[in-house]
Amino acid sequence: MARLVAPSMLSADFLHLEKDVEMVNACADIFHLDIMDGTFVPNISFGFPVVEAIARKATKPMDVHLMIVHPEKYIPRFADAGASYISFHLEAAEADGSDPAEILRMIRSRGVKAGLVINPDIPVPKLFPYLEETDFILLMSVFAGFGGQKFIEETYGRIAELKAEIDRRGLRIPIEIDGGVSATNADRLAAAGAEILVAGSAVFKASDPAEMVRRIRGDA
Ligand code: DX5
Ligand code: ZN
Repeated sequence: MARLVAPSMLSADFLHLEKDVEMVNACADIFHLDIMDGTFVPNISFGFPVVEAIARKATKPMDVHLMIVHPEKYIPRFADAGASYISFHLEAAEADGSDPAEILRMIRSRGVKAGLVINPDIPVPKLFPYLEETDFILLMSVFAGFGGQKFIEETYGRIAELKAEIDRRGLRIPIEIDGGVSATNADRLAAAGAEILVAGSAVFKASDPAEMVRRIRGDA
């Protein structure tokens, strides 16, 4: 299956961000932007100034992955900053007592693709009530919060489980995978049904990031 590569800018070189943005523009498909609040996850990443700076140079779509409580508060601002995709965690919405379907509709109403994310310990069927309202699903293959963690092998089975339900309903919802993705597991992830592969450390710690993007994409 054809797949898109979304480098996670969390692993970029923030002293030379322009260089890494240009690499993504030239070689990759999507900018993956991890927003962490230190509450939903025990880490803080970056916020609007960095996203807006990337937006000024980005020629590829921006995919904003919200790891924050009350995602609905900040969705308008990320949409205004130019996000093409915005996802939030089902666990965050549930803990806030919000209706995930309403947040998905809010994202769509701004002309942005709406995504729902779950951590590796959340059963895949918990996504099923919302499939009709989502434009993509992000399955975490590590626990959200940090780059550079080890890929969780159970992910392959979770992709297959989700893909089977999407196909059964006749829907067209790309599955995105995030965490520990590398050239080693990319083929198998795509074979299981993943269409968007996020990769942070594998890309930015490579001696040739552009070449690593091509390997993860499965280009010859
Ligand atoms: C983790 C983030 C990921 C992370 C991926 O919470 O959502 O996007 O940056 O980094 P790697 O590819 O290094 O696991
Ligand atoms: Zn992410």
